[in-house]
Amino acid sequence: MLRTNAVAGLTVALLMPLAAQQKLAPFVTSPQPIIDRMLEIANLRPGETLYDLGCGDGRILVSAVKNFRAKAVGVEVSEQLAQRANANLHTQGIEGQAKVIQADMMSVDVGGAQVVSLYLPTEANDLLRPKLEKELKPGARVVSLDFKVRGWKPARVEKIEAHHRPYTVYLYEMPQQ
Ligand SMILES: C[S@@+](CC[C@H](N)C(=O)[O-])C[C@H]1O[C@@H](n2cnc3c(N)ncnc32)[C@H](O)[C@@H]1O
Repeated sequence: MLRTNAVAGLTVALLMPLAAQQKLAPFVTSPQPIIDRMLEIANLRPGETLYDLGCGDGRILVSAVKNFRAKAVGVEVSEQLAQRANANLHTQGIEGQAKVIQADMMSVDVGGAQVVSLYLPTEANDLLRPKLEKELKPGARVVSLDFKVRGWKPARVEKIEAHHRPYTVYLYEMPQQ
């Protein structure tokens, strides 16, 4: 009995970190002019798919669909924010072109993305980097606001001011093999 309980306990302990949803960043919105510039820098084209990892209230998804005629997928760990993002898509009438997945971004396959947008601390980008390298197709672009992806060489770095604050946009391209 004791042994059975010990094995069950160990199994739960081993599975917990896999199932746990980690909060990698607080919710801070990107200003609208910065969002549009990020998507321009990423050269998001009509019909392409953008993934916003940590999509907050979904404003990047709305911009991708409405201003760039792209498709968009948001991944958001917070249930409340995912609901807000879904409501945003509904209000904007773009549920056919965009969706929100309420999950830890580390558990969602991003292989369908031509463009990935990030607004996450450098340490979160460190965690994501091997996943992006494994799943993204050659030629996919990653656009990151304010935080580098360490170990990658940016194709472009642009400094922009919005709301009296400087921002930096980093663009990365997945190498052609
Ligand atoms: C800095 S905000 C960026 C919001 C939006 N992308 C923007 O630029 O306006 C980061 C978002 O990532 C979400 N987040 C944090 N950890 C996450 C995780 N492990 N998986 C999915 N989303 C996460 C937060 O809840 C927050 O909404």
